[in-house]
Formats: sequence, structure tokens, C-alpha cells
Amino acid sequence: MIPQSFIHDVLNRTEIVDVIDSHVALKKAGVNYSACCPFHKEKTPSFTVSPVKQFYHCFGCKAHGNAIGFLMEYSGMSFVDAVADLATRVGMQVPIQQADNHPAETEFGPPNYPPEIDYESNNSISSNDLFEIMMRATKFYRVQLKQSEQAINYLKKRGLTGETASHFALGYAPDGWQNLEAIFPDYQSTASENTLLKTGLIVASDDGKYYDRFRDRIMFPILNQKGMVVGFGGRVLGQSEPKYLNSPETILFTKGRELYNLFAARRAIRQAGCVLVVEGYMDVVALYQHGIEYTVASLGTATTPDHIQKLLRQTDNIIFCFDGDNAGRKAAWRAMENSLPFLTDGKNLSFLFLPDGEDPDSYVSANGKEDFEALLKHHAVALSIFLFQTLSTNLDLQTSEGRAKLVRDAKPLLKHVTAPILGLMLLQRLAELSGVSQDELQNLLQIKRTTPIKKHPKLARPKPTTPYHWLIQILLYKPGYINQLTEFIITENGEASEEIATLNVLIDFLNNHPHITDGGAISTVSTYFNDSQHRELLEKIESETLEWDDAIDLESEFSGALAKIKEIQRKKRMTTLHNKSLNILTNEEKQELKQLSMPK
Ligand code: GTP
Ligand code: MN
Repeated sequence: MIPQSFIHDVLNRTEIVDVIDSHVALKKAGVNYSACCPFHKEKTPSFTVSPVKQFYHCFGCKAHGNAIGFLMEYSGMSFVDAVADLATRVGMQVPIQQADNHPAETEFGPPNYPPEIDYESNNSISSNDLFEIMMRATKFYRVQLKQSEQAINYLKKRGLTGETASHFALGYAPDGWQNLEAIFPDYQSTASENTLLKTGLIVASDDGKYYDRFRDRIMFPILNQKGMVVGFGGRVLGQSEPKYLNSPETILFTKGRELYNLFAARRAIRQAGCVLVVEGYMDVVALYQHGIEYTVASLGTATTPDHIQKLLRQTDNIIFCFDGDNAGRKAAWRAMENSLPFLTDGKNLSFLFLPDGEDPDSYVSANGKEDFEALLKHHAVALSIFLFQTLSTNLDLQTSEGRAKLVRDAKPLLKHVTAPILGLMLLQRLAELSGVSQDELQNLLQIKRTTPIKKHPKLARPKPTTPYHWLIQILLYKPGYINQLTEFIITENGEASEEIATLNVLIDFLNNHPHITDGGAISTVSTYFNDSQHRELLEKIESETLEWDDAIDLESEFSGALAKIKEIQRKKRMTTLHNKSLNILTNEEKQELKQLSMPK
């Protein structure tokens, strides 16, 4: 048995869009993604995947489920295998006795790094070969590091211990043109058959021969979220250019998607409750050596929306740490722009700019962990502050021109904010700074801002026919509402008996699975109600929430549904009492009838 809480955890960290997209190419369609359904024949796409709720639904054949269900249906995996596959993807380990053919412990770090991974479990055959090559190259470079006095001295000079080098599986690509030929006999085979070429480890020269891409460089293996090596960063030991050489984009490696150290830092990120994003490999490595392990680096590219989404799936708090110079501020600005659309209320972004001339490596090496963490704590600025500080630079807010420009510049940014509370806060701040009232700003910026208390503006949808149906929708979308339903009893009623029965089963289920209520994307219905007679209705109702998003005012939806149900119950009870002739009512019943008849 796999503990439910573990399954919940895995689903929480899994992005169903990525999982499905690696088998069926998905297209963005509004808030959802769609494709032609892999489970039945069709010409127009009716297969829909919800990133918000993390489930898929086909309006054609009614296929429905979460990431686990997808792998089971699509790849024919068993439930346990599907959970294990997803767990491996997100760097977790199923906490049960593993069958022999399952991936071994993939814990990163010494002494058994690189982890031996069961490549058979990966579906794509061609990438298996590439992973295998990357792993062998990693081992080769590590052995070379142990044998190179010059490379060891370089790392020592930079203050690294052997333990740190080993934790990051650092290596050394020796000088010379064809060193990798020693471990890859197919090195010089023709391009079409040359898998080594596809890894980016070798490069073709003009005369049709191949040579090593990385020569005389310290090698930093880059791991994907499964803990497999997908690329390398290579640093020169001396002064030559380029200082860092990265693997090219390959089948395995997309720079804008990977983050250096994310795989190994997962646990530390969870424990710290935040992730620190820095610019350089060496920053990550030095911070680790000083005991700061919740750090990742982008790979010489700007922080992409993909990066942000990956990180926000791990933690609610992202701190970007950049150099205090112009380039650093520009990088921070890009990171912020790319983040705005993905922020939901409760997610926090902050920015730390280091003193001139310092990077995290130099700072932590000179001042130590406590100082660095104090800097994080006291000098990181919140997104709202950074945003308006930057926009106001070089503006004179004493003049109306300056204030007008501020509003103009803020407009495109604020439009991207979908989180209601954050949006409101930014608008308030802009109102303060510009002297323009919030209402006027809303008109001016054409922002339909949902205040948290306002009625839901976005969702024009058919209201469910019964309040029971309505309540099921809400509970499926946000199971946490179960906590407001304690001692809530719904009695049978001829009309909507199937919905009532299903609602009662769902309430019962959620009451017995408290870990499901702690928020986040779950969509566990298809997992738990597989063999239940209620499954079909639950899946149908869940599919109706596909277009929902956080702009919907669930609070009033919930109280609306509840009020309706209470009203029905009140009327029913009144009818029952009326039908008894007055003189056989007990005194208590007479009292109750009086109460029930009183207008609320
Ligand atoms: P050290 O000098 O080793 O401390 O490097 P650093 O991490 O301080 O590097 P720097 O701040 O110069 O650059 C930050 C990151 O940008 C590096 O980790 C690389 O990912 C990337 N980068 C730096 N220089 C180059 C380069 O010449 N080419 C490429 N492709 N990337 C680079
Ligand atoms: Mn540096």
C-alpha cells in the first residue's frame, strides 16, 4: 500500500500538462490545454487538460482522470507503477518496499552518485541512449578531475572542499580534442548514427571529423527533475573566453526549462519554505558549502515563465538574488515580468540586490551563512516595492507628467496580474503614488479588478439545476470547504436523490481524508472513486469546473449553495408539519413551526 498522503504529495508536485504533453502534444486553449483525444478517434479536439485542477476530460468519450489515471489508461501501467513513475519525475521515492524492477534510490549526492537509474522505465527509447551517454560522460569527467592536479588546485583556490565537489558531481574535461573517444567507440561514426552527437558532447569540424565540445574545463553536470544528467556547464580554469560553455539545446536539454540544482535542492526548499534563485553555478556551489542548500540557478538565460512555474510548484516563496549592478536589476525585472501572470495570492516574490561588485559566492565566502541569511531576511524587497521603485526611478512624482508616466508604465504590468489581492494591493499603491483614485485608475487601465469581496465577474456559466449539484462542484474544486460542513446533514428528497446520495458520499469521503483538504491541486476523484457507482456523476460534475479559475468568488458560491439547501429543508419540514393536523403537533413541534415560518 502506498500512503494516501504520499499520493497526494506526488500529485501536488506533478504538472499534469507536462505529463500528458510528453505523450500527446497539447495546445493552449484559454485557461486549459486541448488535443485530439488519445482514447478515441476524432478529428476535432475534445480532450481537455486543466492546469488549474490537474485533471483531463474528454467531452467526446468522457475519458476522465488525473495524472495517475492518464498513465494507467495511456501507457497501461498499474496504479503503483503510475505513482512510482510520477514520483520519480518529481524526485520523490515511493515509501514502500520496491519490486526489483523499480528505479533504485535516486538520492543525489555522495557516495553513489550518479544514481543508477532504470532507463527501461523511460518511455522514449532514443532518449534512453542519450541519458546513458550523459551518465558515462559524467563518470568520465569525475575520474579525470581526480587525476588532474591543476583542476583540483583550481577548485581548492576557489575554496571548494572535496565533499562539495563530489556532492555536485563536478568533473574535469581534460585538454585535447578527442578524449571522449576513449569511452565511446562510436565516436567517429556518421552523423545519422552518431548518438553521441545528439547529446551535444561532440562537435563536427569542417573536415567531417568530430571533436570534444568541452576541453580543459571544470564540468558542472545539469540534472533534470528526474535526477538525470541532461547537460553540462563547463568553466575555463583561466581567463579565456567564453568563461562558461553550456551544452547546446538537445532532445534532453532545454535551457529555459531546467534549473541548476533544482533536483538536489528539493528537500531543502521544502524545509526552508523558500527557494533562492541566483545567477551562477558557482554561487549555488559556494552557498551549499556554507550550508545554504535551497538554491537554484538559471543556466545563463533569463528566468523564464517555465522556470517560475516549476519553482512555484515547489514553494510559495521565491527570492531572486542578483548583483546590484544594472545587469542584475535588468535580470530581476525580466524575472518579475515573467512571474506576474503566474502569481496567485499567497505566493511571494522578493528580490535581493547584493552590494556592488559582490555575487552570492563572494559574499557568502567572505561573510558566512548568518550574514548572508540576515541579508535575505532584512534586505530582500517585496515585489510591489521593487516594481514601483523601479518604475519611479528617474521620474519626478511631484509633477503631473511624472505621475502620468508612472501610470502609463504600470499599465501593461498590472494587466498581467490575475491574483485578486495582489492586484488590489498594486492598484492601491499606484493610486497613492500617482494621486489618481483607484476607481479612476481601474477605468484608465481598463483593468477589471476583482476585489476579494466582490461578486464573481468572470464566470458566466449555467447555474447547476440543484444546489446539491452546485455544492458538489464546489467541493470538487476546493475540497477545503468540507471544514465548513461539519455536522451538515442532507436528507433524502425524491427529486434529486442521485445527486444527494453522491454529495453525501463525497462529504463522507472528504471527512475521512483530511489531507485532501489542505489546498493545492488534487483532483483525486478518479483515483478514489474508480469502482464506485458515483464515479460517473462525479466526473461529469468535475468536468463542469474546467473553466473555473481563482477569479471566481467561491465564498459566495458556497454560501449560496448552502442557503439554497437550507431553504429547501426548511420548506420540506414545514410541509411535513403542516400536513399533520395542528392538534396532534406536540408543543415543541408547534414552536418549531412558528420558528420555521418566520422570515429570515
Ligand atoms: P565565476 O566567475 O566562476 O564565479 O562565475 P559566476 O558564476 O560568478 O559567473 P557570472 O556571474 O560571470 O555568470 C553567471 C552565469 O552566467 C554563469 O554561471 C553562467 O551560467 C552564465 N555565463 C557566464 N559567462 C558566460 C559565458 O561566457 N557564456 C555563457 N554561455 N554563459 C555564461
Ligand atoms: Mn562568481
